[in-house]
Amino acid sequence: MEVHNKKLAIEGGPKAKTTPNFPMYPGGYEIGELEKQSVIDVINDKYLFRYYGPANVESRVKKFEEEFTAKIGVKYGLATNSCTSALIASLIALGVGPGDEVIVPGYTFFASCASIVAAKAVPVIVEVDDSLTVDPDDFERKITPRTKAIIAVHMRGAPCDMNRIMAIAGKHNIKVLEDVAQSTGGSYLGNRLGSIGIMGAFSFQYHKIITAGEGGMVTTNDQRLIDRAMAYHDTAACWRPGGPAGRFAKARYEGELFPGVNYRMSELTGAVMRAQLTRLDNLLYRMKSNKNRIKNAVSGTKGIEFRRLNDVEGDTAIVLIFYLPSAELAGKFAVALNAEGVGASSLHDKSVPDWHIYNHWDMILNKWTATPDGCPYSCPHYVDKGGKIEYSPDMNPKTLELLSRSVHIDIPPQLSPEDCDMIAEGILKVAEAYL
Ligand SMILES: Cc1ncc(COP(=O)(O)O)c(C=O)c1O
Repeated sequence: MEVHNKKLAIEGGPKAKTTPNFPMYPGGYEIGELEKQSVIDVINDKYLFRYYGPANVESRVKKFEEEFTAKIGVKYGLATNSCTSALIASLIALGVGPGDEVIVPGYTFFASCASIVAAKAVPVIVEVDDSLTVDPDDFERKITPRTKAIIAVHMRGAPCDMNRIMAIAGKHNIKVLEDVAQSTGGSYLGNRLGSIGIMGAFSFQYHKIITAGEGGMVTTNDQRLIDRAMAYHDTAACWRPGGPAGRFAKARYEGELFPGVNYRMSELTGAVMRAQLTRLDNLLYRMKSNKNRIKNAVSGTKGIEFRRLNDVEGDTAIVLIFYLPSAELAGKFAVALNAEGVGASSLHDKSVPDWHIYNHWDMILNKWTATPDGCPYSCPHYVDKGGKIEYSPDMNPKTLELLSRSVHIDIPPQLSPEDCDMIAEGILKVAEAYL
């Protein structure tokens, strides 16, 4: 690809990209007649609550669970009101609680970590590797006799190294909960994310690949785990299926029933999500085509090293990330790209807060808790097992170093081939000047 005018826009030259940037709301940006009609149908049917309504109408949330699990390739799904609640319900279902440690990567949205504390367990924050997902070596290094689970976050659209994570977890009897919030529809070696670990948690918040503004899903192949997640998400399985006989039936086994919260998905959300799910394959196809087009045009450029992908085929392609030789260059590069009209960001400036990087998680680093007794950190169940955890902003230097040298460019599905070519030209132009 030829760079038409080499003078950088930041130095007064013409912009490489002259078209507007789209917001990164892949499914949200497409919301239209399909979603509108789905919602109108709910209103017309007057079936607004997940567990009851007119007898001749079926719950949209239930239908969505069936359609979503068929897509992901798992037996069971439980729709929730967010991914945070899906994570908490999954941890509770897995039996995570006081005295346990849960491994989580230092690069993920804060919610992955907060969900562990909400489940009354202690987060152990580990490094990411050059895929920007859990570093399997650091995962293994930080296992203790108290480690009960790992939240494997498929960060920024791309899969973790699931083969290694599953092998290490299997060796140490650790449960793998996949956080698929940012990667719905992605896969690893042919299996959809959310079907590989013992449980998966998805997000349908507005920024995610498919969305209803808010929403989430628990996935698993294990009947007892879905029963327990279901019980927790519905105050105490208040609305167990099977009519009054089912609702009020005694627990079928120990651990089936216990008090919980209300994380139920609303029928209006379910209706929007059924429409959005029909768009998923097309959204993924467009993001992948766009990313390939840009990557092909800039690959081989001196000084640019693409983020490593654990499975190129399984990447949802929501973002193009590359590393530059230094943090200073990454910062300068992103500023120049923005001047070229290419929406880009770099994480080189550690003073700029970002909820996705552990060194900004003050609530964890300072062990702030809702009550002054300091549980779960000071909980006797934890302390008596020898548990003692210290956090510091520089405890995962590799994560910070990788992020500091990275440049991120979102890849909305709405980009045209011409938009992609202009983005590629912007990258080449800035690279020629700076690298
Ligand atoms: C990796 C990750 N996990 C969990 C969440 C929480 O999702 P929700 O907002 O649906 O609770 C997010 C949302 O940004 C996320 O990016």
